[in-house]
Amino acid sequence: MKLTWSDVTPKSSWLNRRSFLAAGAALAASPALGLTGKPSGFSTDAEPNSLKDITNYNNFYEFGTGKEDPARYASALTTDPWSVEIGGLVERPGSYGLEDIAPDNELEERIYRLRCVEAWSMVIPWIGVPLASILNRVGVQPSAKYVAFETLVRPEEMRGQKRPILDWPYREGLRLDEAMHPLTILATGLYSDPLPNQNGAPLRLVVPWKYGFKSIKSIVRITLTDSEPFATWNALQPREYGFYANVNPQVDHPRWSQATERKIGGGLFGGRQETLMFNGYADQVASLYEGMDLSRQF
Ligand code: MTE
Repeated sequence: MKLTWSDVTPKSSWLNRRSFLAAGAALAASPALGLTGKPSGFSTDAEPNSLKDITNYNNFYEFGTGKEDPARYASALTTDPWSVEIGGLVERPGSYGLEDIAPDNELEERIYRLRCVEAWSMVIPWIGVPLASILNRVGVQPSAKYVAFETLVRPEEMRGQKRPILDWPYREGLRLDEAMHPLTILATGLYSDPLPNQNGAPLRLVVPWKYGFKSIKSIVRITLTDSEPFATWNALQPREYGFYANVNPQVDHPRWSQATERKIGGGLFGGRQETLMFNGYADQVASLYEGMDLSRQF
C-alpha cells in the first residue's frame, strides 16, 4: 500500500472545496467569475459559449453516439468517490484522489477553444490544473516517453458501453513533451462549477491544440510508458485519425475538409469560421513538431 496525498490531506478540505465550488456556481453570473480558478495568461479572449451549449452538445460515446445523449444519460454516472491509478514509469505509483490531483490552491481558469475533428468548435472556460504539476509530483522516470490515459468502464452506469460502439475503455495518449506543455490541463470544472458529467466528470484531459477526441473524459488511469500508447480512434481508423491529431486546416479528413469549422451557438449563418493552425496555439506549440512532416504524422 503506497502513501498518497490523501493520506496527508484532511477530508474536510476536500469537502470545503466542494462547497466552495458550489458557492462559486451561485456567483457564476456575477463578475466574480474565476473565483475558483486563478485567471491565466493562456486563455483566449474569444467569447465563451453558453453553459447551455457546452452541456447539451457533447461527444461522449460511453452514453451514446448522439450529441444529446450525454446530457440525457450521463447523470447516471457516480463520480464520488473517484480515484485515478497513476503508474508505469513513475517514482511514486499509486491510487490518487481528486483532491491530490487538483488541490484548491492550484486551480486555474483556462478559456480554451475546442475544435472537434467533426469540424465544429466551441470556446470553453475550464477550471483545472496543469497536467505537468501532477506528473512532476508523482515523478516521471527518465525512460518515460509517453503518457497513456483511460476512461472508466462501468456499463451499469454508462449505457453506451453495453454495446461495442468502441473498443472500451476509451483510451488516449500524448508524447511526454505534449503532456508536460503548460497548455495541457486536467479539468475538474467549468464556469466556476464542478465539471458536469456530460463533459467528463470528475476529471478530463484538455489539450487545446489537438482535435477534441484527444481530450479524454472521466479518467481513471494514467500510465507513463516508453512506447506510443494505444489510442482508440487512431486504432479504429488510422487513415482518418492520427495519433497526433493536431488541428491543421491544411490536412483534410479523408471524408471532409478541415479548412473551416462551425462555431456552435454561432447561429444559422454566422457560425462558419476559418480553422487556425494548431487551433490558434501555433506560437506556443509549433516548436514541439519541428522537423516532422505534419501531413504524414497527422
Ligand atoms: N472521452 C471519452 N471517454 N469518450 C468520448 O466519446 N469524445 C471526445 C472527447 N473525449 C469522448 C471523449 C470528443 S470526439 C470530443 S470532441 C470531446 O470529448 C468533446 O468534449 P465536450 O463534450 O466536453 O465538448
